[in-house]
Amino acid sequence: MTQGWRLVGVLSFLLAAMTLGFIASPGWDAEGIRLAIRATARTSLVLFVMAFTASALVELIPSEATRWQRRNRRYLGVSFAVSHFIHLAVIIALAVVDRSLFWKLTNIGTIVLAGSAYFFIAAMAATSFDRTAAWLGPRNWRLLHLVGGWYIWISFAVAIGKRVPLDRFYWPLAALVLAAAIVRLIAMFRRNRRQVGHSLP
Ligand code: HEM
Repeated sequence: MTQGWRLVGVLSFLLAAMTLGFIASPGWDAEGIRLAIRATARTSLVLFVMAFTASALVELIPSEATRWQRRNRRYLGVSFAVSHFIHLAVIIALAVVDRSLFWKLTNIGTIVLAGSAYFFIAAMAATSFDRTAAWLGPRNWRLLHLVGGWYIWISFAVAIGKRVPLDRFYWPLAALVLAAAIVRLIAMFRRNRRQVGHSLP
């Protein structure tokens, strides 16, 4: 199975092809750009959940699949960043092509709060290389990736949560977001319990 940086290369190629396909399908217009915005948000969600739950899942359900996921956590995270920067690029394309539709679909609050997620995505992707991770140090790296991961999780929870009342399609996406948090929290509580158990006299 494809893994490592090759996985990032293959997924980036597929994401770029998918985005161009969606933009081109209705005829290179704002509607196509909007399809690409939605599609990249969804690929980002899947890749983010895979990276975000990798360590927790291998602890809770050890298997060949979860071990592959854990080994490729870094590459799934970088692929998520690629997908989400394409999301940003097509959002900017929409703002240029159809400014009034852009402001119908978003507002200043979303731009500031969801835009801040890009600070974490960029910082987490930039520190996903051995040399940059070593430069940051293990403590700071863990803190950045913990806080950043949950900030991005909240961004997905808000973006999907506000669409749930509009369309039943968003229910399974909301379930996926919720399941990711539950898996992480269960693994964290189990780890804490083990540590308390070890430190008892
Ligand atoms: C500057 C920041 C951002 C802006 C301006 C923005 C804007 C948009 C727009 C215009 C749409 C399409 C709405 C439609 O066609 O109905 C969209 C969809 C979406 N965005 Fe973003 N976005 C931003 C960042 C983010 C971030 C950080 C996340 C999550 C981490 C996110 C997750 C989503 C999701 C889940 C959707 C829904 C996709 C669907 O319909 O299935 N966005 N965004």
